[in-house]
Amino acid sequence: MDFKTRVSALKDLRNVEADALLLVVGEGTDSGAFGKALGSALEQALSDSDLAYKPGRSLYLHRVADVKAPRVVFSVAKNASAKAFGAAVAGGLAAIKGGGAKHLLVASALVQPLDAAQAQALVSATEGALYQYRHTKPSAPPAPKLQRVTLACDAAVEREIGDALRRGEAIAAGVALARECANRPGNHCTPEFLADEARRLSKEHGLKVQVLQRKDIEKLGMGCFLAVAQASAQPMRFIVLSYRGAAKSKAPLVLVGKGITFDTGGVSLKPAADMDEMKFDMGGAASVLGTLRAVAQLKPKVNVVGLIPACENMTGGRAVKPGDVVTSMSGQTVEILNTDAEGRLILCDALTYAERFKPAAVVDIATLTGACVVALGHHRSGLFSSDDALAGELDRAGEQGLDPCWRMPLDEEYDEGLKSNFADMGNVGPRAGGAITAAMFLKRYTTKYPWAHLDIAGTAWKTGAAKGATGRPVSLLTHFVLGRAE
Ligand code: BES
Ligand code: MN
Ligand code: ZN
Repeated sequence: MDFKTRVSALKDLRNVEADALLLVVGEGTDSGAFGKALGSALEQALSDSDLAYKPGRSLYLHRVADVKAPRVVFSVAKNASAKAFGAAVAGGLAAIKGGGAKHLLVASALVQPLDAAQAQALVSATEGALYQYRHTKPSAPPAPKLQRVTLACDAAVEREIGDALRRGEAIAAGVALARECANRPGNHCTPEFLADEARRLSKEHGLKVQVLQRKDIEKLGMGCFLAVAQASAQPMRFIVLSYRGAAKSKAPLVLVGKGITFDTGGVSLKPAADMDEMKFDMGGAASVLGTLRAVAQLKPKVNVVGLIPACENMTGGRAVKPGDVVTSMSGQTVEILNTDAEGRLILCDALTYAERFKPAAVVDIATLTGACVVALGHHRSGLFSSDDALAGELDRAGEQGLDPCWRMPLDEEYDEGLKSNFADMGNVGPRAGGAITAAMFLKRYTTKYPWAHLDIAGTAWKTGAAKGATGRPVSLLTHFVLGRAE
């Protein structure tokens, strides 16, 4: 999709050459501002009760008299926030996307002038509404005809809005990549597939890539990662993807993404219901790929390294067993009490590997615990960090990117549950506070740098009728990286 700005007042919209107008309205919209043709259409719709200023409502009108564009949609926003603006755009698009319009003009009759956050929300709402999974579904609806979206704005803010659209496009492309990878079934999206995606990004966007195989991983002594991968017929991979936007001497940000391409639970087998959703267990890895794609397009002056431990968690005769003790790359030993707590096992070795980059900060992203879904539901990702400044940055990045998270505690009292009689630690604690114990486990491997952990178990995908990946938290992570640029 091609996004552009156009300087245009509301009263001139009736003369604009476009296939469709999407007009975001709401409480306080002055219908007079639209001029006669569009203004009276809006007033009549309201007085005929075919439209009301209630969020979620929209009205499609075909060939309004004295309006050049053949299609007009009024869509109601709850308020003038970027979030409400994006939601209104998505609502309005539902009426347009299946039709013949190729060029859409969007204008806001909420508080003027538009700001950068609204422009970014427009792009993410549009790309989000138009995304359709197709790869293994030939019967999916054909791609919408829409090719161009123009956002009407004032001359004074055109430059700022244009920059915001560029930023929005890069983030949306990263989100789409993350969604597509995570939506692919486990027999398509294998560890080697993730490695291929990283290689492709490296070629197309000038990133550096390195893919380690089992032999290399054995040499590094990643005993926890190897234990998880040992029953799988799919070869394991450790992906290192880096972007250089600042001097080599500048300490990088390291993003570590959980890349379990399918989680059966292993010998501690998961129940059958909804197990298909465990193909999404590489959502953290997908968000690292998506973020690096966005960053490579935006070229901020910062260095970023993405690390992805990727494997399947399978059961069978070669599988790791409850009670087995393995040695992590850090030298600490782990009693694997539950083979379904595999995410922390692949992450802990990746977190130790991260030390070699002398990072400015490390953020890991993982669909780590069902407990996090119980705690926070599907709206906010769990944020864990003992570094207040880093936690604050990630929190703000989530708000800015409309990809919110919520900080959870890491008091030392929660560490108690990880005690083991047979190793330095067990890999699970008590059921209560399970998202926190998982984070406490990771914390033991992050003593050498500022660290934060995002548990995206509730936010990386949607269940039910709209089952599918969300591409979160690419927006949060990209905003975080941009905030660290020189
Ligand atoms: N990938 C799962 C976490 C998960 C479960 C995410 C359901 C979303 C929905 C993870 O590997 C896992 O199985 N975690 C266990 C940990 C437990 C054994 C301590 C869990 O949450 O049940
Ligand atoms: Mn698991
Ligand atoms: Zn898992």
